Amino acid sequence: MSQKWSPESWRSKPILQVPEYPDQAAVADVEQRLATYPPLVFAGEARSLKHQLANIANGNGFLLQGGDCAESFAEHHPDHIRDFFRVFLQMSVVLTYAASQPVVKVGRIAGQFAKPRSSNFEKKGDVELPSYRGDIINDINFTTESRVPDPGRMAMAYRQSAATLNLLRAFAQGGFANLDQVHRWMLGFISDSPQGHRYQELADRISEALNFMKACGINSDSVPQLRSTDFFTSHEALLLGYEESLTRVDSTSGDWYATSGHMIWIGDRTRQPDHAHVEFCRGIKNPIGLKCGPSMTPDGLLELIDILNPENEPGRLTLIARFGADKVFDHLPQLIRAVEREGKSVVWSCDPMHGNTITAGGYKTRPFDRILKEVESFFEVHNAEGTHAGGVHVEMTGRNVTECTGGARALTAEQLGDRYHTHCDPRLNADQALELAFLIAENLKKERDGRQTEPMVASA
Ligand code: PEP
Ligand code: CO
Repeated sequence: MSQKWSPESWRSKPILQVPEYPDQAAVADVEQRLATYPPLVFAGEARSLKHQLANIANGNGFLLQGGDCAESFAEHHPDHIRDFFRVFLQMSVVLTYAASQPVVKVGRIAGQFAKPRSSNFEKKGDVELPSYRGDIINDINFTTESRVPDPGRMAMAYRQSAATLNLLRAFAQGGFANLDQVHRWMLGFISDSPQGHRYQELADRISEALNFMKACGINSDSVPQLRSTDFFTSHEALLLGYEESLTRVDSTSGDWYATSGHMIWIGDRTRQPDHAHVEFCRGIKNPIGLKCGPSMTPDGLLELIDILNPENEPGRLTLIARFGADKVFDHLPQLIRAVEREGKSVVWSCDPMHGNTITAGGYKTRPFDRILKEVESFFEVHNAEGTHAGGVHVEMTGRNVTECTGGARALTAEQLGDRYHTHCDPRLNADQALELAFLIAENLKKERDGRQTEPMVASA
């Protein structure tokens, strides 16, 4: 791509999924104000995440990325942030132990407000209104006034992101992430879960490992790493005016960084190579995610890789596969082969949520067994291709919602109405999210065992 990039060069490109603001002067006013606000993240942190992702691209480590489909102003509460982080940490301990590899923790949080929609309009009875596009753009209430895009919401989303990130940083560094404590929470989950016996063995092994470490004098008093953790933020870079306002030059490197979050991704609906979202993302130096749905072809993917990661820098690009449980074998192998053939360095991650949405009992939902099946197929394909299944990307919450069916408590379609709170797509609840981590752990262990036996086979 020879054309010069600037934080606003996306403005001259075709663009999809944009809100139609009635007052452009008001939009410009908010964007100018945002451009004077402090960055939410620092470029050095984005570089550190990129280094950690580079390890995964080289076959070592696992990416755990998750959080709400859409954060909302209504759900902005310290307890929700705490509950999310508590489950996320437990998932990461389970995965770290099973993989015997570092788990890179990236929340879909502190900025995940803008939503792409399949339709520009939503119909209820005879009334048709513009679709809800996320709290950073308009309001979810089904009234004409609520659905008008309001630029003032960008400043509210920025403030909420700052407050959320502040608490997450405090949790990550201030003792909440202490490994002993996370382990105790996990044991509590196992004793309460109807399927707990299935996870007992893995939990026992983690307990033994911790006891062994303690006996050797390795504990959270002696080793600070055991009482804190690295945690990063991410969101879909959909609302480009907002992103541009928070794009800043890093004084140490002279490079441009999106400072709205550590990692940003391009959605499956806005990844056209000559359009605005790809244009914006190619010029910033953060780690970038790219959603790959069933319409992604091998050539299309290679074209995007060349635009987004021309230097083939490991850790720069994470491909987030989201095909649907039954379509993984039809699409993933050919994409992996194209990437391998051209020697491109990527992290492969699996989003088992967005290809598995159905309607049941009048609600948008996702059956737990389909989510699990997509992850297992993802691992199976990578095992067959000899490539590294590098991560998962899930929509989840720490609350006890009823949005996805199935799981150990066998949530039924009839129960969905009990606590269906999501502002957009259905999320795994706390138990389902942790259960998924235990089930992924079984796959990671298989991958690890496979690797350990390989050299012996080779030398025999
Ligand atoms: C999402 O991650 O919420 C999303 C809309 O995903 P996709 O772009 O893969 O449809
Ligand atoms: Co979603």
